[in-house]
Amino acid sequence: MQITVYGATGTFGHPLADALRERGHSVIPAHRGIGVDTATGEGVTEAAEGSDVLVDCVNFTHVSRHRTLDFFSRSSRQIALAAAEHPGASVVCLSIAFKPAAASRMFGYYQAKELQEKVYRRLVPTEQLLIVRSAQWFELVESTSLTAGPVTIVPNMRVRALAAAEAARMTAEAIDAGERGTLEIAGPEISDFATIARTISRAEAARSSGGLPGGRGARRPRRVVGIPIPGPVSRDGLIPDSPRLSAVTVEEWLRTR
Ligand SMILES: NC(=O)c1ccc[n+]([C@@H]2O[C@H](COP(=O)([O-])OP(=O)(O)OC[C@H]3O[C@@H](n4cnc5c(N)ncnc54)[C@H](OP(=O)(O)O)[C@@H]3O)[C@@H](O)[C@H]2O)c1
Repeated sequence: MQITVYGATGTFGHPLADALRERGHSVIPAHRGIGVDTATGEGVTEAAEGSDVLVDCVNFTHVSRHRTLDFFSRSSRQIALAAAEHPGASVVCLSIAFKPAAASRMFGYYQAKELQEKVYRRLVPTEQLLIVRSAQWFELVESTSLTAGPVTIVPNMRVRALAAAEAARMTAEAIDAGERGTLEIAGPEISDFATIARTISRAEAARSSGGLPGGRGARRPRRVVGIPIPGPVSRDGLIPDSPRLSAVTVEEWLRTR
């Protein structure tokens, strides 16, 4: 198949494009660097030309809830319109694990992802749509951490995290198999950001000593402080109900980096 990946240079999009190529598909990588802008619509339809599947894995993070909602609603509309102009093309929307019933009590980002899903459900026929709700990635723990000297501070959310590359592999499998509907994917265990951050910190400290705890040049693991976040993200608001599971643990992911 020919598959257009909007967001092909991202944390997810890059390994997804690789996984699809490994399965023999031809990938059209689309992102702003080559003049495709899903927020304005520039180049979106052209990038879909001849494709059997359009994958939306673009991203936008901003403190403004309004701007985040605006980005995801515009981008999903533009990609859905491109699909409508290419009859037969199916759409894969990469969403994130969250309980829709609790979205109004979560960060604006989750409300934007809920809106993104709604736009696709409204504009793309059911038999042409796959929504992949991936649990949060180990990589997200790092990108949301703040390190100051020997201390790392993380928002302490409860998750069933997995590696982004595993999410990409599992999504490529689902695309290959022509799956439709909503697919939840997640990691091997329920944990929280602080626990994952401590594992990362210990691995980094061990690496600084060549793998020998207390070896020459070793530094101590950073102290991790988890900031409690009120509301559903600290309870089960981000835990998928019946996910397909990756077996790769955070320790195994750390060994492959
Ligand atoms: N982080 C997690 O734990 C997690 C878990 C589950 C699902 N997700 C979802 O995964 C998706 C991808 O996240 P990510 O972390 O891989 O994103 P990322 O690393 O920030 O990459 C974003 C991609 O989108 C492209 N992009 C951004 N704005 C664009 C625009 N206006 N037009 C066209 N392309 C644009 C970027 O390329 P250019 O900058 O070159 O345009 C890049 O290729 C998001 O929808 C997110 O909700 C994330």
